[in-house]
Amino acid sequence: MNFTGKVAVVTGAARGIGEAIAKRFVDDQVEGLALIDLDQASIEETAQKLDPTGKRVAGFACNIADREDVARVFAEILSRFGKVDILVNNAGITRDAMFHKMTDDQWDSVLKVNLDGIYNTCKQVVPGMREQNYGKIVNLASVSAFGNVGQTNYGASKAAVIGFTKCLAREIARNNCTVNAIAPSYVDTDMLRAVPDNVMAKFIEAIPARRLAQPSEIASVVAFLSSDDSSFVNGECIVVSGGSYM
Ligand SMILES: NC(=O)c1ccc[n+]([C@@H]2O[C@H](COP(=O)([O-])OP(=O)(O)OC[C@H]3O[C@@H](n4cnc5c(N)ncnc54)[C@H](O)[C@@H]3O)[C@@H](O)[C@H]2O)c1
Repeated sequence: MNFTGKVAVVTGAARGIGEAIAKRFVDDQVEGLALIDLDQASIEETAQKLDPTGKRVAGFACNIADREDVARVFAEILSRFGKVDILVNNAGITRDAMFHKMTDDQWDSVLKVNLDGIYNTCKQVVPGMREQNYGKIVNLASVSAFGNVGQTNYGASKAAVIGFTKCLAREIARNNCTVNAIAPSYVDTDMLRAVPDNVMAKFIEAIPARRLAQPSEIASVVAFLSSDDSSFVNGECIVVSGGSYM
């Protein structure tokens, strides 16, 4: 892919899939890249690693669940880069529990970050994308949207992300904008560290590819959906699961 002249924003970019997406944009010649994550030091470290000159990549500390914080940071991003062409809503959390044991806080926090977070960031970029008649939004969903034990909160949030994606795609297609989602299954990141080894071994056995996805294998699909090579792909949710979901 080639992102010459384009400005992209990636949330949850300090590590894992978000960091791999950021690296892919840098490798593919993005002009400006704003990286968002909770902690200033870690997001700056990732930005520095990807672009030691600091000319193309900048890190911003921001909690995407906090509407005012998001508005503040996007104002900074716009003043630094002048526009946003691509938004990748990657930040997400899990707070797994069986439903009968799930606390209100586990429910609320997952919905606040995974769903409200996407509303908050899209609110900041969609008006500009409509005006400039160009925009690419890619949302990280999950196959948990199709059902998974211990994840009613997470699965509900990710199913909502898919619905949000399709509705917004229909609204802004006429403005030369696309909105798509990706539903990965298990990706080898810190998010899976809480899963016990014996449980993980069972998960892997059930994957036709017999392995976890690498973050770069999600980043390559994000790159496609963020590029003009996918100009007529809109409102889709691409499952990336090594054949688990067909
Ligand atoms: N790893 C998997 O198996 C998997 C599978 C399907 C979908 N996903 C989705 O992919 C995305 C990335 O997952 P990952 O595995 O890289 O996770 P991760 O936990 O390794 O990284 C997520 C990043 O998001 C950041 N973040 C969390 N809450 C935030 C907030 N409120 N504001 C800003 N940043 C925040 C974290 O600090 C972290 O750096 C998530 O949306 C996740 O739900 C992951």
